[in-house]
Amino acid sequence: MSSSPLPEAPLPNIVIVGAQWGDEGKGKVVDLVAPCVDVVARYSGGPNAGHTIVADDRRFVLQLVPSGVLRPGKKSVIGGGTVVDPIALVQEMDTLAAAGIGLDHLYLSHAAHVILPYHRALDQAMDQERIGTTGKGVGQAYTDKAARFGIRVGDLLDEAHFREKLEASLPVKNQLLRSFGREPFAVDAVVKAVQPAIKRLRPHIKDTTLLLHRWMRDGASVLFEGAQGTLLDIDHGTYPYITATSATAGGAAPGTGVPPTRINGVLGITKAYATRVGGGPFPTEVTGDLGELIRARGKEYGSVTGRPRRCGWFDAPLLRHAVRVNGLDTLAVTKLDVLDPCHAVLVGVGYRYKGTVLDEWPAEERVVTKLEPVFEERPGWLTETAGLRAWEDLPGRAHDYLRWLEDLIDCEISLVSTGPGRDETILVEPSRLTRWFPDFRRLCLR
Ligand code: GDP
Ligand code: IMO
Ligand code: MG
Repeated sequence: MSSSPLPEAPLPNIVIVGAQWGDEGKGKVVDLVAPCVDVVARYSGGPNAGHTIVADDRRFVLQLVPSGVLRPGKKSVIGGGTVVDPIALVQEMDTLAAAGIGLDHLYLSHAAHVILPYHRALDQAMDQERIGTTGKGVGQAYTDKAARFGIRVGDLLDEAHFREKLEASLPVKNQLLRSFGREPFAVDAVVKAVQPAIKRLRPHIKDTTLLLHRWMRDGASVLFEGAQGTLLDIDHGTYPYITATSATAGGAAPGTGVPPTRINGVLGITKAYATRVGGGPFPTEVTGDLGELIRARGKEYGSVTGRPRRCGWFDAPLLRHAVRVNGLDTLAVTKLDVLDPCHAVLVGVGYRYKGTVLDEWPAEERVVTKLEPVFEERPGWLTETAGLRAWEDLPGRAHDYLRWLEDLIDCEISLVSTGPGRDETILVEPSRLTRWFPDFRRLCLR
């Protein structure tokens, strides 16, 4: 028998997913965890996402480029489950390059579907008013994907082939556009509009599934970056007020080609309260002065559209739904500092519906739209937590609040965020996060 030492256990492949309606702080947390992994891969969504990272007093809002890109040497993958607006992606890359961020390790899947100018026009004509979409053409590109009319990134690489694809789909799209009183698009004009972007993207376009598998074979670990959030998921969200794809953790497998058997855990991100941007039900929404206070303190305006986000209290049954459908192992709670001036902190613990009280999230659309929240409240901590970095430094009432949330949703909290900056973060030890990444404190919270 050989006495050679056992190989070191490889670090795990983990999904980071929004547990609410998006904007939970995924960008901050992905950037924070990135030093522990080799690759960060986006698996769904498109330029509807806005992931903010504040690093060294610089603020970046990423739409499609993975949030590990600020960490030198890390590989970034835009997976096949995303939808890519080539023109918008090149603008995003130009902004990053101008800020000195290296893009040599950015890989774009040939299998991702593309958003072309007519998708944006259709989104704005058909969906923006009705659903409150971001108007970026995301839902329309996914519609074409499902309708087998889609054009993929790989199709752009051969102009004759790209034209053939456009010739097949544009007549149908133009008919739809005309029925909404919009101008039709010509094949030539579409090709011309995206030509410069194709040229720029060409060296980044790869079979990213094959690359991921090769890297994993050689011991690399992958962080899967979710976009949007659980309640915006096409199956598990508040349909039809959702985005058009699988935002939940399960989407990481089809969205990258890494099978479920290679995914080892899921870290959910939630705010210490709740927000939603766009239309749709939001049982714990708070309007009036308190809603305004949360919006102002949390700077709750859409990263992509600038729309004011709707604000409300933490909704425990909704989070339990997120724990279930994503298989959350552990949670990061962000924006605790926003609640500092609240005399009382409320949590939705159930709903009233037609004279009965429901204690679990009712997935049915006709029920979800008619819920009245049942709240419980605790005294606020009325102390500044902004910027705190140690659990012991939090006021007792903030501890009580966080422990209360853990009990209500039966999921441990491993990170608490007290500000947008990297170091404005509390690591709770020991936790699932430090079991996955024993060096987390040393690598990520320097
Ligand atoms: P994402 O889409 O999930 O990445 O979240 P967004 O970037 O759209 O929105 C989160 C916003 O909250 C960003 O502006 C972050 O800089 C900010 N943020 C993240 N964590 C904290 C925190 O703990 N406290 C405060 N005050 N802001 C935070
Ligand atoms: P990140 O990744 C918050 C919302 C839109 C709208 C609905 C459908 O930053 O958390 P779409 O343009 O996707 O067809 O719009 O989904 N939405 C988001 N809300 N954060 C996001 O992304 C979102 N992406 C889409 O506001 O209600
Ligand atoms: Mg966002």
